Amino acid sequence: MPASHPVTRPRRLRTTAPLRAMVASVRLHPADLVLPLFVKEGIAEPQPVSSMPGVVQHTRDSLRKAAVEAVRAGVGGVILFGIPAAKDARGSAADDPAGIVQLALADLAAEVGGDTVLMADLCLDEYTDHGHCGLLTARGEVDNDATLHRYAAIAVAQARAGAQVVAPSGMMDGQVEAIRTALDSAGYQGVAICSYAAKYASAFYGPFRDAAECAPQFGDRAAYQQDPAAGLADAVREVELDVQQGADIIMVKPALAYLDVISAVAASVQLPVAAYQVSGEYAMVEAAAANGWIDRDRVIAETLTAIRRAGASIILTYWAAEVAAGLS
Ligand code: PBG
Repeated sequence: MPASHPVTRPRRLRTTAPLRAMVASVRLHPADLVLPLFVKEGIAEPQPVSSMPGVVQHTRDSLRKAAVEAVRAGVGGVILFGIPAAKDARGSAADDPAGIVQLALADLAAEVGGDTVLMADLCLDEYTDHGHCGLLTARGEVDNDATLHRYAAIAVAQARAGAQVVAPSGMMDGQVEAIRTALDSAGYQGVAICSYAAKYASAFYGPFRDAAECAPQFGDRAAYQQDPAAGLADAVREVELDVQQGADIIMVKPALAYLDVISAVAASVQLPVAAYQVSGEYAMVEAAAANGWIDRDRVIAETLTAIRRAGASIILTYWAAEVAAGLS
């Protein structure tokens, strides 16, 4: 090809960092990031989670400090998970007004409630002795409709304690409607629902089960969470149902192995789409980085960028505070 030929050169816009920044279309902003936090009843000191280096189970006191620090770093929100001292078959601590999550939500509402979005994970697995996300039938199966009554009660307890957004993660059919109805009739019309709408039965949740002490004592969650081998239509259908039932934000989980799902969901809804970069995604990067095999900070930025590029506007990530601090 002659040198004078007017070749189209995409590389021209990659010449300098300022040029690349100017033409970039995917940007991370601290306000898009939500930090998951764990609070455990009955401990005197924060407990490290061995499979998630850098993540701890907080005391009420250390939780308050971690939340203040995250908000100062600019995160858009925090989402709280509670680990009660005692568990039973119905997960009684989940909606106990004196349960650890309710106490911690009230602490955070007082401390940072005006400056951030205070979210609460809404599920039963951290609170049940069998570790499943719902009540069990005599045959040991998760009873969908009986579980909805529990979720409704938990939603009201969390709202009363100060949660501004409840995030049902149990994948029961009809959970968004049951929660919306309960919140509205208790006077919490203003509390939003961020639905874990497309949530897969994923091995990437492994480290979380250490953090939240919620591994199922028998069986697995494949009868309620989605099959990774299901087609995109399954995800879009789950999302449509949650939209009809009154969800305000739609979540996809996990994130990196499900970028196609994020993309399909973002194309199909008019609501904000969140993605959860889960514990296993975090642990893999931390482990490889600890071995010197990857550049930790660049991999973190690249994964978050990919999740944003796929169409998520909100990202739940255990790196939220660190990344937000680096961006601002
Ligand atoms: C269920 C819940 C889980 C996670 C968030 N909410 C565990 C599960 O479904 O088994 C996983 C989060 C993570 O892996 O980081 N309450």
